[in-house]
Amino acid sequence: MARFASFVVLAISLASSVAAVPAHIPLAGMPVAKRDALIETLRAVKPEAPPPPLAFNGTKLVNDAAHPWKPLRKGDQRGPCPGLNTLASHGYLPRNGIITPAQLLNAVQEGYNAETILARRFTYAAILADGNLVTNLLSIGQKSPLTGPDPDAPATIGGLVNHGPFEGDASMTRNDAFFGDNFSFNETLWEELVDTANKFGAGKYNYTVAGELRYRRIQDSIANNPTFEFRNNRYFAAYTETLLTANLFLDGRSTDGQLDLKDARSFFADMRMPDDFHRAPRPLAAEGTDYIVNLHPFSPGYNKDGVNSFTLDPESASWTNDPMGCKLYKWYVEQVVVPAYPEPKGVLKRNLNLNLQYYYDTFAGCEQLFPYGKPEKDDDDN
Ligand code: HEM
Repeated sequence: MARFASFVVLAISLASSVAAVPAHIPLAGMPVAKRDALIETLRAVKPEAPPPPLAFNGTKLVNDAAHPWKPLRKGDQRGPCPGLNTLASHGYLPRNGIITPAQLLNAVQEGYNAETILARRFTYAAILADGNLVTNLLSIGQKSPLTGPDPDAPATIGGLVNHGPFEGDASMTRNDAFFGDNFSFNETLWEELVDTANKFGAGKYNYTVAGELRYRRIQDSIANNPTFEFRNNRYFAAYTETLLTANLFLDGRSTDGQLDLKDARSFFADMRMPDDFHRAPRPLAAEGTDYIVNLHPFSPGYNKDGVNSFTLDPESASWTNDPMGCKLYKWYVEQVVVPAYPEPKGVLKRNLNLNLQYYYDTFAGCEQLFPYGKPEKDDDDN
């Protein structure tokens, strides 16, 4: 009888621990036995091919009646990306913040006119590092900054908030992970952005402000964050994000390249498109890179021994040594993906290979890597 009772307790606790695991839980880095047992309980989904570029790729009203802004509900997930937070709060993405790569690509193209290749590169890098490759789901955050931590989500379950190859240091409006909350809008950092815009942009955000702020945030992190990391994916993404702000948060009818700070704050802090917002006039991404990189040329590196110990890392991909992105691609596959997924098999291996293919497709001209062997034709038919 006692044995039966303890069996019932075990069965109930197993059932509740399985039920508590959300379908977007990242599989990267999980011990193999635990991961494979979990996979048995998940509903496997084959990732769709990335959606094509927009058929109509001009500007249009996107803060429209079909996409009203709505406040967060308890449990909605938001994270470090103001672009995606805003799309979720307008219903271009599922409002709960749990998304698929195809939904993400449709949303950034439709909502902002984001250029397809960069959007795909970000999307597949994100699902590979921070998503669940079996269920094909990714959380754009982990917790709701407005409603507080989701009490139902175990603290270790992340999505884009995971500090790693993508979420990183020296962000414009979010703290470095070393200081705690790395995803909520931070007023002190916003004031730094405003100050930079006042000094270099006559109170507006433009490419010059983007370049100055990028450099200033790097210097802040060197001086204050003993664990400052600024290499490979983070290095490129940090520059690109300052330009996404200038290119895609600017109303598509504007011709002067000057983003009003009230509009910028609406995206960054309120996750809300300004009234009457029109998306970019043509597909845009990191236009302006040469300009901001040349404003303050800076090479990748990290604080090796605490604050103010910034050390260059010539092994890291950079604007100067990796114009085609082949070093970045190799690093991501070999140093991020492969160590995160040892001994994959079955549906995990199939989905890894598909996502790696979609990621690779954004690096035309680079040598393709097949860390899990070349996919066999039948792998794709499951
Ligand atoms: C295409 C898929 C995208 C993914 C997977 C993605 C993901 C992310 C992630 C993980 C971060 C955090 C990086 C950090 O630590 O600062 C971030 C930041 C950012 N993202 Fe996105 N993003 C995407 C598209 C976009 C788009 C289309 C926009 C603009 C319309 C955008 C605007 C930004 C900005 C401005 C930041 C910097 C926030 C800050 O530094 O305060 N993102 N994104």
